[in-house]
Order: sequence, then C-alpha cells, then structure tokens
Amino acid sequence: MPESNAAPLAALHAIRLVQSQSREASEVTAQVSRKGETGHLGDGRSPDAVISASGLVKRYGDVEAVRGIDFEVTRGETFGFLGPNGAGKTTTIKILCTLADATAGRALVAGFDSATSRDAVRRNIGLVFQDTTLDTYLTAEQNLRFHAELYGVPKAAVEPRMRQVMDMVGLWDRKDSLVSTYSGGMQRRLEIARGLLHAPHVLFLDEPTVGLDPQTRSSIWAYINDLKKREDITIFLTTHYMDEAEHCDRIAIIDHGKIVAVDTPEALKASIGKDRVQIQTADDPAAIRALDDSFGIQAAMHDGAVTFSVAAGEQFVPRLFAEFSIPIRSVSVSRPSLDDVFMSYTGTTIRDAEGGAGNEFMRNMHRMRSGGRR
Ligand SMILES: Nc1ncnc2c1ncn2[C@@H]1O[C@H](COP(=O)(O)OP(=O)(O)OP(=O)(O)O)[C@@H](O)[C@H]1O
Ligand SMILES: [Mg+2]
Repeated sequence: MPESNAAPLAALHAIRLVQSQSREASEVTAQVSRKGETGHLGDGRSPDAVISASGLVKRYGDVEAVRGIDFEVTRGETFGFLGPNGAGKTTTIKILCTLADATAGRALVAGFDSATSRDAVRRNIGLVFQDTTLDTYLTAEQNLRFHAELYGVPKAAVEPRMRQVMDMVGLWDRKDSLVSTYSGGMQRRLEIARGLLHAPHVLFLDEPTVGLDPQTRSSIWAYINDLKKREDITIFLTTHYMDEAEHCDRIAIIDHGKIVAVDTPEALKASIGKDRVQIQTADDPAAIRALDDSFGIQAAMHDGAVTFSVAAGEQFVPRLFAEFSIPIRSVSVSRPSLDDVFMSYTGTTIRDAEGGAGNEFMRNMHRMRSGGRR
C-alpha cells in the first residue's frame, strides 16, 4: 500500500471499529479486565460456541460471495477457513466483525449478534486485516498507543500490555523505529501484536502470513501457538496455505462461497482414504483416456502431471507399469494431503483453483460425476 494511503486507511479502521467509542469507553475499560467471560448465548447453540454462523449469505449485486454457510467455533479453538482466491473468506470475516451486513442469516460472536450488537462484538474482538492498516510514518509504539487509546485501554495498563505483546512478537527492541523501516514480516507481527493489545476474546486473522517467506511464516506461527498457551483466546483465521491450515484445530474448506467440509485436519485427510498418484507420460491426454478405459479411473492434469487417486497406490503402480500401453516417464505416490481433500470436494487443487476460470470445465465435470455434491 502506498504510504500516502496509510493514514486514511488506518483512520477508517479506527472509525469502523470504534464509532461509538467515547460513549463506551468505560465499558471497554471494564472489558479489558474481564477476560474469560463470554456474552450470553442465544438460539440454543452450543454453550461453548464463541462464534456461530447460520445460513449466512452475502450478495454484492450479482456476485454471491457467501452462499449460505453454517459453522460454530468453540472457545479456545484455532479455526481456519481454507479456500482459494475469491472463495468468500474475507467477506465472512467482515460479516463476523460487523464490517459488512449479511444479506441473510445470522452470526453470533462472543454471544453477541454481529448485526444488532455491533459495539459488543467489536469490544470482544481483535482483527488483523488481509491488507496492512499500520500507519507506516509512525513508530511501532505510536501505532500501538493510538490503538490503545481508541479501545480505551486504561492508562496504567497500556505500558505493561504493550511491552507484553511486543515482547511476544520480538519487536520490543524496535518499538521506536518507524514502521516504514520494518520488513513485511515485522509489520505483520506488529499487526498481530496490535490486534492483541486490548486483550480480545476472539482474534480474527485474515491471511496472517500471506506473501511472507517460509521462515517468517513459521516464526509467526510460533508466536500464535505461544499466544494460545498464554491467553484465553479463540482464533479464527483464513488461509490458502495448506501447511498453515495444518496448525488449526479444525478447518472449514470453503469454495465458491460454500463450506464443503469441516473437521480436524487429520479427520479430513483420513476421510479421503486414497493415495494420490501423479505420472508423467509420453502422451498425457492419451494417458488420461487410457486410465479411464483400462482401469475406470478418472484422472486430470494438475501441477503439470496426470493426477488421480487410488486406494493403495503402492500396489497399483506395478500394475500400471505392467498393463499401461503409454510410456511412463515418472511416477510419484503420496499419502492424502489437505490439497487432496480440497480436490476431492471441489474437483481441483487449490493452486489450480487460483489459476482462474480455465479450470471451471474440470470442476463442472467433477460436480457431474459426484452427483452435484456442491
Ligand atoms: N465490496 C465488494 N463488492 C463487490 N464484490 C465483492 C466485494 N467484496 C468481495 N467481493 C466479491 O466476493 C467474492 C469473495 O471475495 P472475498 O474477498 O471474500 O474472497 P477471499 O476468499 O477472501 O479471497 P482472497 O483469498 O483472494 O482474499 C469475490 O468474487 C469478490 O470479487
Ligand atoms: Mg481475502
């Protein structure tokens, strides 16, 4: 983001979240010292549900960004939305965080309705946006102090809390540096620290590590896991990284505005029950036809290889070499990954799904074969 836009964006962030802040300053102050409480729960939902969404729909004109989703997140969970670009992840976060109105359906966060009890929801949440909203021409400390003031953190609590969250992300030594001199990873860590400053019950992280190098991504995850040990906090995050999704207690796979599966990463992978085989051949289109004709296997091109699933890959491969008429140049067999789970439910890998509309054909074929599951 160009620096010239930083101030208006941060101001917008502030205005959105604290429109009635002055009226509620005393309540916010009380909230900071009331960690551990959740609000009243409604609708007979699970008493442990910190987030609960039912029948959420969001339309932008003709675009149906969210198409009727239901899920619950229990207290203390790290719950992830895994899906490709445009799946509806940010839109869902915006509804939960009161920054967008749902077209239909209902969302409760910390027991409060995100449409009718916006201020109560806002007091209970921390939010790290997909795009940075730091004021890059201010120092890290100034950014945090500004946030503390907006959220009415009691004056005496600001200093120790600031130290605590900045220590947590390893930035205390750099608190006096201008944010414009921070690396991308440092800025992301500072945003996470800022999201935690007012001790929220629920932390929303929209693509917390997008665009960062693997080392920085893993260090951010170390902070998040450490945070879970120290604070009584529920985390809702979105990602399109498979490895990031593995950090979650439970994952909802979201595609085209719909949740297609929800479970623990292990259970989702176990549900596939099949190995993924990838082969490179002298004639890939002919190989795809031959797999169907000879073995009744539906294969497709993914990541530059003929890709298909079979129950026991290591037993199938020798048979393939013995019976296949098309020369095979390479073969790889892998145990189910979350990408396979994604492919099993949507007909494409997440990377291919982000490649654009060219894969719609394969997806439609998959939908027809699987009886229109989606
Ligand atoms: N303000 C808006 N006006 C019109 N369409 C929108 C708006 N916001 C989102 N959309 C559309 O809604 C769909 C879902 O967008 P969303 O930002 O929720 O996706 P996402 O899953 O967060 O994707 P990404 O991984 O790229 O961040 C997209 O088709 C997008 O173009
Ligand atoms: Mg998004």
